[in-house]
Amino acid sequence: MDTQIGQHLIQPADRMNGLPTQFFAKLVAKANAQTAKGRDVINLGQGNPDQPTPPHIVAKLQEAAANPLYHKYPPFSGYSFLKEAAATRYKEDYDVDIDPASEVAILFGGKTGLVEISQCLLNPGDVCLVPDPGYPDYWSGVALAGAEMSFMPLTEQNRYLPDYGLISTEIAGRAKLMFMNYPNNPTGAVADADFYGRTVRFAEQHGIVVASDFAYGAIGFDGNKPVSFLQTPGAKEVGVEFYTLSKTYNMAGWRVGFAIGNAQIVKLINLIQDHYYCSLFGGIQEAAALALTGPQQCVAELRAIYESRREALFGALDRIGWKAARPGGSFFCWLPVAPGYTSESFADLLLQEADVVVAPGAGFGKHGEGYVRLGLLTTEARLREAVERIGRLNLFQA
Ligand SMILES: Cc1ncc(COP(=O)(O)O)c(C=O)c1O
Repeated sequence: MDTQIGQHLIQPADRMNGLPTQFFAKLVAKANAQTAKGRDVINLGQGNPDQPTPPHIVAKLQEAAANPLYHKYPPFSGYSFLKEAAATRYKEDYDVDIDPASEVAILFGGKTGLVEISQCLLNPGDVCLVPDPGYPDYWSGVALAGAEMSFMPLTEQNRYLPDYGLISTEIAGRAKLMFMNYPNNPTGAVADADFYGRTVRFAEQHGIVVASDFAYGAIGFDGNKPVSFLQTPGAKEVGVEFYTLSKTYNMAGWRVGFAIGNAQIVKLINLIQDHYYCSLFGGIQEAAALALTGPQQCVAELRAIYESRREALFGALDRIGWKAARPGGSFFCWLPVAPGYTSESFADLLLQEADVVVAPGAGFGKHGEGYVRLGLLTTEARLREAVERIGRLNLFQA
């Protein structure tokens, strides 16, 4: 509802009208409406980790909250100890050498950085290459920059990797930035070193900055550790990786992550952040540093929980005849809809008839049509129950 100042309407800036609609907000509203009717809804539609933050990290924040140093403004681009902790983790996990002072920018979660990088690099009229299906927050930054998106289809035939051969020379020539995300939301696909090698060559050829969203970097299954883009020779010259503590350490509510890699891009991100914020609460930075440098057993345990849930879910899917490939990483499963439905009509059916929330694939882009995304973010028993409820609708042939 518009409000008035005297006789005048408050007029939002044009950029507000250009923002994409927040798809997850609609999903949450539909699920809440069903819960409000008193139904026992199993919500597999969202990406909010259900496990608590490991206790040693929580204890560090409790202790750090009492440190008077942190009651003051933090340094603009964050404490150097957190940047050093990020560099240590990358050395240990990926054998990548990082200069903490110039190659790490601390972020209020990955989402912030993913929106900021478009502001840093794109002018109106520039092209940004975006995966389809893909994480909708990439669209937000591109829209705020007034730039254009060119979608890179991710298809099952190509293992949900973009095919650079399909990008026209005109588009590649105009593109300044590209997003990629493996382990992938929403498909659960993983990328290998070969793919990142092709990516660096493509980026070098056309002068495109690569933004590798490694939000699910810690979640790889079947004994396969996800590859970091920065492990590729030449990667640091063409891009940055976005890492978040949200998924690796169940710290989604803490809002902490970092961009790591190319020093010039890190500098630009720090510069834009100097204008928006004054870094994170020092106590959060200290606890985040402990998360990155302390015992990593909790990460292995979390991975095992998700893998075991994946098996429980796919065992149940098999029993009802819902056939799909298991994800290689992330905590998402990408499943084809039953014949005769769109992703949205299928998701609506599951909500109305089975009280199960799934995310319609079309919300992640045109090439997400025909699929729904399920998150492994509840217990094995609830996952099985969700599938049993869906099985009772007899949509698949067992
Ligand atoms: C693909 C992807 N990237 C980035 C994020 C951002 O996470 P955060 O802002 O919590 O770091 C998410 C969160 O759901 C995600 O799924």
